[in-house]
Amino acid sequence: QTDIPAVRDAVTAFPVGAAITGAEIVGDHGLLLQRHFSSVTPGNALKWDATEPSENTFSYAQADPLIAFAKSNGLAIRGHTLVWHNQTPAWVFTGADGQPMTATAEDKALLLARLENHIRNVAGHYGASIAVWDVVNEVIDENQSDGLRRSTWFTVAGLDYIRTAFRVAREVLPDAKLFINDYNTNVPAKRDKLYALVAQLRSEGVPIDGVGHQMHINVSWPTIAESEAMIQKFIPLGVEQQITEMDVSIYTSSGENFPTPPADRLLQQAYVYRDTFALFRKYAAEITSVTLWGLADDNTWLDTFPVTRKDAPLLFDTRLQAKSAYWGVVDPSKIS
Ligand code: G3I
Repeated sequence: QTDIPAVRDAVTAFPVGAAITGAEIVGDHGLLLQRHFSSVTPGNALKWDATEPSENTFSYAQADPLIAFAKSNGLAIRGHTLVWHNQTPAWVFTGADGQPMTATAEDKALLLARLENHIRNVAGHYGASIAVWDVVNEVIDENQSDGLRRSTWFTVAGLDYIRTAFRVAREVLPDAKLFINDYNTNVPAKRDKLYALVAQLRSEGVPIDGVGHQMHINVSWPTIAESEAMIQKFIPLGVEQQITEMDVSIYTSSGENFPTPPADRLLQQAYVYRDTFALFRKYAAEITSVTLWGLADDNTWLDTFPVTRKDAPLLFDTRLQAKSAYWGVVDPSKIS
């Protein structure tokens, strides 16, 4: 479809990106990506298990082709992610004695040394070509009174893993924008804990430049008012905000399973995209990019989460054709 406007021409308030794997840079997928988007996020290729599968052995075989594609097509790149509790090999959390790490001074020192080495290598490998990084991902657990997820990172190193990650990232990349990224930030309890952490760390001088809102939502949740409160919450901190992983599931509960996406859900989805992008445009001074967590409905993590069933959360369908959701973003008067 070359007779429809490019998303990136229709939305000029901020760059619009897509998360990608190797499958999205070839053939018709590559053409679609190139035509409509102005930014990309490698969905898995920059994570720890891909980049440092064993200690001090770095591999860029997955990420390099994606980065090269982005550069040759003039697409911005969001780096995702340097520190996470998932997709991190077990060796990272194994002590010198071969046992799982615990809260000892020795394990903490080893863990932070591994963290520093990882960031120096991975962020250093790409240097200025990756100008925005999700330095830490999903560190908040709103059910803890201190709001901090009890990952092995935290139980071994306390908040120092976050401090170290940002300090080292800033040293390696003085000009990059450094983000803390999380999901469900439209839930008041969650965003309040995230706010408190970012406020505390910034007051200590930890170089956090931005807050990433993942925005994995669905056709009936959240309300626009809830999403607006999410953005407003962080304005007093003076941080950049980015929408980092948006998709809009057609499902409203884990019990539903449609063989093909129902027309009414696709229409609802178009309105959600319309209203949510209108909100982002209203806050264009705060929101500096919006990324969708995938290119088209043929490749989405929601096909296996929270259960295995076909979902259709993106702007283009499984045959790469523009959906009503696309028109919700590009020209809501044409939603049908
Ligand atoms: O690479 C292996 C392959 O060798 C194996 O045959 C296959 C069989 O299951 O698995 C492949 O690994 C999968 C990997 O994606 C690459 O496709 C993993 O099982 C699968 O769990 C993994 O899922 C990724 C997920 O993060 C893992 O937590 C999704 O693709 C990725 O989109 C998703 O992204 C996260 C963000 O990083 C953070 N926010 C939430 C978001 C969605 O979960």
